[in-house]
Amino acid sequence: MARASVLVQRLTPADARELWELIDRNRRHLSRFGDDIAGNYLTFESVRDRIDKPPQGVWEYRCAIRDAETAQMVGFVKLTLLPHLYRVVEIGYWLGEEFTGLGYATKAVRFLTHLALTDPEFAYVQVRAWVHSDNLDSRKVLARAGYTEHGPDPDRDGLVRFSISPAGAENLS
Ligand SMILES: CC(C)(COP(=O)(O)OP(=O)(O)OC[C@H]1O[C@@H](n2cnc3c(N)ncnc32)[C@H](O)[C@@H]1OP(=O)(O)O)[C@@H](O)C(=O)NCCC(=O)NCCS
Repeated sequence: MARASVLVQRLTPADARELWELIDRNRRHLSRFGDDIAGNYLTFESVRDRIDKPPQGVWEYRCAIRDAETAQMVGFVKLTLLPHLYRVVEIGYWLGEEFTGLGYATKAVRFLTHLALTDPEFAYVQVRAWVHSDNLDSRKVLARAGYTEHGPDPDRDGLVRFSISPAGAENLS
């Protein structure tokens, strides 16, 4: 796999087993910057239930990142509607460690950001992201995807805020 070509597809119940296996073999990798991704999913049932029964009152668009040629699941990316703001979503993402360094995350973030800001079905006015200041790989993903860095967020300890608006998404497709 010298180059990554990606598919970003909304999660369905049929994805639960593959997602669980990807999380379960990447617990240390997913916890490097204090994220609780792996800690939220200690059993297969917890992954399956999260897909089957999304929490009430939270709008999320949760997707698998897949290699376009093999269809193997390589990671995860999601949009979450931020409450109390007008049509602003947060993006979050991760890859299995064995799939890093190939461009999957950058391509998936570019794709979903473009969709969020330009597709009439979504048409959000801004996408935001928060990244631990030491997470240089993640900061580089957002920079490559056209996001603007705003520096440390005083309301979120240790996290740097990024954002992109529709004008910034014009060249992302
Ligand atoms: C953050 C994370 C997704 C970044 O993964 P990544 O592999 O560095 O990101 P990408 O998939 O975009 O790959 C980029 C790397 O592939 C290289 N690459 C190769 N082909 C590429 C291509 N066609 N397009 C873009 N990059 C490419 C880039 O040069 C870059 O390597 P470099 O940093 O050495 O220059 C990953 O480290 C991760 O899952 N971490 C744990 C969870 C986490 O931190 N999530 C984010 C929370 S905010």
